[in-house]
Amino acid sequence: MAKLTWHGHSCFTLETDDGARILFDPFLDENPVADIRAREIERLDWILVSHGHFDHFADCIPLAKRTGATVVSTFELVSFCQAKGVEKGHGMNIGGGHQFPFGRVKLTPAVHTGSIAGDDEGAFTTDPCGFLLTLNSGQRLYHCGDSALIMDMQLLQGQVDVALLPIGDNFTMDPQDAALAVGYIKPRVVIPMHYNTWELIAQDPAEFRRLVGDRAHVEVLEPGGSYVF
Ligand code: NI
Ligand code: MN
Repeated sequence: MAKLTWHGHSCFTLETDDGARILFDPFLDENPVADIRAREIERLDWILVSHGHFDHFADCIPLAKRTGATVVSTFELVSFCQAKGVEKGHGMNIGGGHQFPFGRVKLTPAVHTGSIAGDDEGAFTTDPCGFLLTLNSGQRLYHCGDSALIMDMQLLQGQVDVALLPIGDNFTMDPQDAALAVGYIKPRVVIPMHYNTWELIAQDPAEFRRLVGDRAHVEVLEPGGSYVF
């Protein structure tokens, strides 16, 4: 069984049944709703970063340096981390996949913008992505990143057991668009993210559940809450 823990916003820890510890979109120390601070993370093997905005990337470099975790992201974002002293990185690009010890990771398209927090010279342009993981157990997890609703999500149909979708509006999909995405992807379970971090992206997850209806099970987590699958 894999254990997925939400830290608020788009930040999740995934512990696989073969013992890998994976952190998505590290945003802890400046995340007003996070259940933990970055210093509380002791062991970490992999950090998967969807894009370079501060609310997905802020704790990435310090955590990678302290824990020795490998940063997995787009080529440019990984190059930026390595230029800042991160030892282990694995650069990929959208549409490509790679077999890691815990399973396969494929970078999926995400429509969003793409600066990198901390890249003061603007030397590392990058496109945002999402992640499709196929764990060694066979379970499949989709982390959407900050994407808008895109027709490309239909290509994920039949490939996703658990989908993590933003519902906060303003920067990402709103609950209506995310419910349409559920119809495209047809996951078994959907977990909403990227909402209620700040007033600007306040949403009622019960409304999202109502909009999804019987298309998927909507699992609403509180920061610190886990879903086992
Ligand atoms: Ni963003
Ligand atoms: Mn964001």
